[in-house]
Amino acid sequence: MTVSIIVAKATNNAIGKNGELPWHLPSDLSHFKKTTSGHHVIIGRKTFTSLGKPLPGRTHIVVTRNRDFKVPEGHFVAHNLEDALRIGKSRNLEKIFILGGANIYKEALPFTHEMIITEIEASPDADTFFPEFNRSEWELVDKVTVEKDDKNPYKHAFVTYRRKEIG
Ligand SMILES: NC(=O)c1ccc[n+]([C@@H]2O[C@H](COP(=O)([O-])OP(=O)(O)OC[C@H]3O[C@@H](n4cnc5c(N)ncnc54)[C@H](OP(=O)(O)O)[C@@H]3O)[C@@H](O)[C@H]2O)c1
Repeated sequence: MTVSIIVAKATNNAIGKNGELPWHLPSDLSHFKKTTSGHHVIIGRKTFTSLGKPLPGRTHIVVTRNRDFKVPEGHFVAHNLEDALRIGKSRNLEKIFILGGANIYKEALPFTHEMIITEIEASPDADTFFPEFNRSEWELVDKVTVEKDDKNPYKHAFVTYRRKEIG
């Protein structure tokens, strides 16, 4: 099972502010939808709650320490990241997406094979950040740059990194 982080992060590694995204970038939202549709996603409880309801066409595995947390039928609750990944493996998935937030990304990084990062050319005020990672461990395999336009106020790039083979 390929473990794939998907994140939109700014130049200063910002990913969130006051429980929301620090930007409005429709181009990234469509990229996110296209990439994750039909897949299982592992998501922190705060990000899940902020959605209001599950993202259509995706099966959510919500990570929370709350033993009473309930999700709609067809979705799952896990009480740590290992259990979330175990649910994915037990369902024979080819791929699972890690949707954040900060602690989920940090814990998932050592298990992650691929990162799909929207690199946004901005340094917004933020309270949630993507963890630092060692760039030399990752190979850039794809990069599509998008210029800013009327609807998308920041230049950004959809970048795929794959973990380099060891040895
Ligand atoms: N830019 C992006 O791509 C992106 C992606 C995702 C999120 N965000 C932004 O990031 C912010 C939210 O992220 P966040 O980091 O504050 O919260 P989060 O990861 O969505 O949720 C945090 C919660 O997840 C649970 N959790 C985390 N690690 C756990 C573990 N090891 N075991 C059990 N439960 C665990 C805990 O839930 P309980 O408190 O219920 O125990 C914790 O309070 C928002 O602003 C959101 O918009 C941005």
